[in-house]
Amino acid sequence: QAADDYQQMERATQFFSYQLRKHKKAPEVIEYLKGRGLSGEIVKQFQIGYAPDGWDDLLKSLAKDQRSRDQLVDLKLVNRNDNGRYYDFFRDRIMFPIRDRRGRVVGFGGRIISGDGPKYLNSPETRIFHKGRELYGFYEVKQAHRSIEQVVIVEGYMDVVALAQAGIDFAVASLGTATTTEQLQMLFRATRQVTCCYDGDRAGRDAAWRALENALPLLTDGLQLNFLFLPDGEDPDSLVRQEGAEAFKARLGEAQSFTQYFFAHLTETLDLATDSGRAMLLSQAKPLIEKVASDYYREELLQELARLLRREVSQVAGQMKAKAAPTA
Ligand code: GTP
Ligand code: MN
Ligand code: MN
Ligand code: MN
Ligand code: MN
Repeated sequence: QAADDYQQMERATQFFSYQLRKHKKAPEVIEYLKGRGLSGEIVKQFQIGYAPDGWDDLLKSLAKDQRSRDQLVDLKLVNRNDNGRYYDFFRDRIMFPIRDRRGRVVGFGGRIISGDGPKYLNSPETRIFHKGRELYGFYEVKQAHRSIEQVVIVEGYMDVVALAQAGIDFAVASLGTATTTEQLQMLFRATRQVTCCYDGDRAGRDAAWRALENALPLLTDGLQLNFLFLPDGEDPDSLVRQEGAEAFKARLGEAQSFTQYFFAHLTETLDLATDSGRAMLLSQAKPLIEKVASDYYREELLQELARLLRREVSQVAGQMKAKAAPTA
């Protein structure tokens, strides 16, 4: 059954892709994509497509019998309303197929082109799609590189595609949620350097801190996690189109290190000139530092903490729980 699910998702991908070439609205959609700086080549590479504006085009094309119709419902490509009527889940949207690490399409993101409704619709969870475990663009990054020097995590589908269009072919997006431990683990199995680059707004800053927290137990010696904050109102797509790839790469090169961001965030609202400010920093940093897997990073964090607290490292270290010895 699972194999059949993947086949059906692949058929849907082909259907959306075909519509982007043949549908009567295709020229308008292609204009939109061109307007966003995307070439036909990149559209093909990411297999971007178009879900037609009718009610049941996909349904009609893919549901051969009751069984395949029910399967489309299970895969959340088709909805059933209270009157028992079946209709396409994605209508009049630009479609981004989401592939798992083996290249199988497991879900879609759909962007509205005009009119009302949420800007993006994402496939709900299904038996083959678990958002916290997938990363948009990761399969494409793996295809582009034999050995992956670094990966950038961004917020949006369009960010991944726009960066690839600019030649920065090592970006992935977590799917509308905070980057999970599972996603970070997947990345750190493939590369040593990951940079979190979220939008320069409140949501983006919150997402970065959650990613840091999720990374604490994963960060072993030799791995690097950096943070790049963009000017408010910008995202990787808008910036790379304004500034070009070299400027964006320069930003990546100047990203904050894990340790820099760790303390920048924790001290943001604290006055370290006061006893209470320093006490607060110690109490907030301590449980986090204890979670860090790497001796190297724990040591680096301790040193920086001691410097900020104006104490000796040994004194601060004494207040930390000894890292539990690994059990055999
Ligand atoms: P563009 O406007 O096309 O450049 O998209 P964007 O990626 O810049 O959008 P934004 O920064 O607003 O959102 C980032 C990501 O959050 C998107 O790629 C989606 O995955 C998700 N997202 C944005 N808007 C919505 C929404 O209305 N509903 C849902 N479920 N997810 C959204
Ligand atoms: Mn490359
Ligand atoms: Mn945003
Ligand atoms: Mn954005
Ligand atoms: Mn954008």
